[in-house]
Amino acid sequence: MWKLFCAVAVFVGVIAVRVNGQQCTLCADGSASNPNGTIGAAPCSDIEAVIGSTPANSTQCRDVQLQGFLNCGCPTFPGSFCPMCADGFFSIAQPNKQIPILNDMTCEDALFAEIAVENACSDIERTAHFCGCPGAPEPICTLCANGPAPSKPTRRLPPSFTLTCADYSDLVEFSLDESECADAINGTLPIHTSTYCGCVNVSTPVPTCSLCGDAALINADMNVAEPDVTCQELFEMAPFLKDQLYCSALQANFTICCEGGAVPAPTMSPTTAPDRSPQAQTESPSTDLTSGARWHASIWLLCALSVAMVASQTP
Ligand SMILES: *[C@@H]1O[C@H](CO)[C@@H](O)[C@H](O)[C@H]1NC(C)=O
Ligand SMILES: *[C@@H]1O[C@H](CO)[C@@H](O)[C@H](O)[C@H]1NC(C)=O
Ligand SMILES: *[C@@H]1O[C@H](CO)[C@@H](O)[C@H](O)[C@H]1NC(C)=O
Ligand SMILES: *[C@@H]1O[C@H](CO)[C@@H](O)[C@H](O)[C@H]1NC(C)=O
Ligand SMILES: *[C@@H]1O[C@H](CO)[C@@H](O)[C@H](O)[C@H]1NC(C)=O
Repeated sequence: MWKLFCAVAVFVGVIAVRVNGQQCTLCADGSASNPNGTIGAAPCSDIEAVIGSTPANSTQCRDVQLQGFLNCGCPTFPGSFCPMCADGFFSIAQPNKQIPILNDMTCEDALFAEIAVENACSDIERTAHFCGCPGAPEPICTLCANGPAPSKPTRRLPPSFTLTCADYSDLVEFSLDESECADAINGTLPIHTSTYCGCVNVSTPVPTCSLCGDAALINADMNVAEPDVTCQELFEMAPFLKDQLYCSALQANFTICCEGGAVPAPTMSPTTAPDRSPQAQTESPSTDLTSGARWHASIWLLCALSVAMVASQTP
């Protein structure tokens, strides 16, 4: 959809806006581009030949200059963009990864963002490690400290079950400081996130909750909570819970999920519960972490393809 939009915008820009202002050059600094490069299907030399009809201060010129930097050997990128990676490096390891704090925009789409959008640069720079810029600084927060990514990436986290461990691992990387990190990993959710997600090298908690106790799990596939939460999932999750209230809520499924015994007594001691602060029982954890950082304005996506299309059709 945006490609169509861009095609129209660039077309209108190139055809309609012919003023006697300063003319656009393919390279932002005016130097010669490498004629062997291509933008989309069009050789850089073809783009260079037609781009002079566009005013230098137009967004079309700026977008083409960015493509010149990326594809035509131009030494600089236009100053109104901020690059994700230091020095404008653009060969990132994870181009298709979705960035949770940027409305799931992909890394590739966020490589260069317009500076005009408030906070865009700092938000984009924060994605450098996540997207795999070479030499990017390590994030201050990781779900699995001193170890590889979670080995149970598809497990879903209570109480909302909307985020998987993999999602959560992505999300905590964007913590702004150590206290936000500690909240995300040890505070907000009713579960020991690192161990439930299968991190190695983290201390294993003593299980304090059980769905069935000595009784047998039955109806493993029965759907007992939204969205599609089964007895089996609650059964696997229970030993990792650290919140007594949440444990009790989960055990209310006993008669549906378990057979041949009594509801197990909670084994959590009220005195050993730093986790049971009001914060630990917050019901909507993930929104806390994202809403502040979530981007409230849109980025202008790049128009390489449409620029090339229009340029190759322009005599
Ligand atoms: C671009 O420059 C021309 C001529 O100097 C000016 O009239 C026009 O307002 C400028 N446009 C923008 C978007 O700055
Ligand atoms: C473009 O390609 C030609 C032929 O392969 C080569 O001789 C020339 O050095 C190239 N130019 C640049 C600027 O890389
Ligand atoms: C666990 O931590 C130790 C020391 O921090 C490290 O040497 C080891 O490689 C880690 N194990 C894994 C599987 O990452
Ligand atoms: C979470 O708690 C564990 C155990 O108390 C501690 O080792 C770890 O550093 C904490 N993690 C964070 C991010 O604060
Ligand atoms: C079953 O467990 C879920 C997750 O703890 C809870 O939200 C739900 O209320 C429980 N269902 C019943 C019927 O108690």
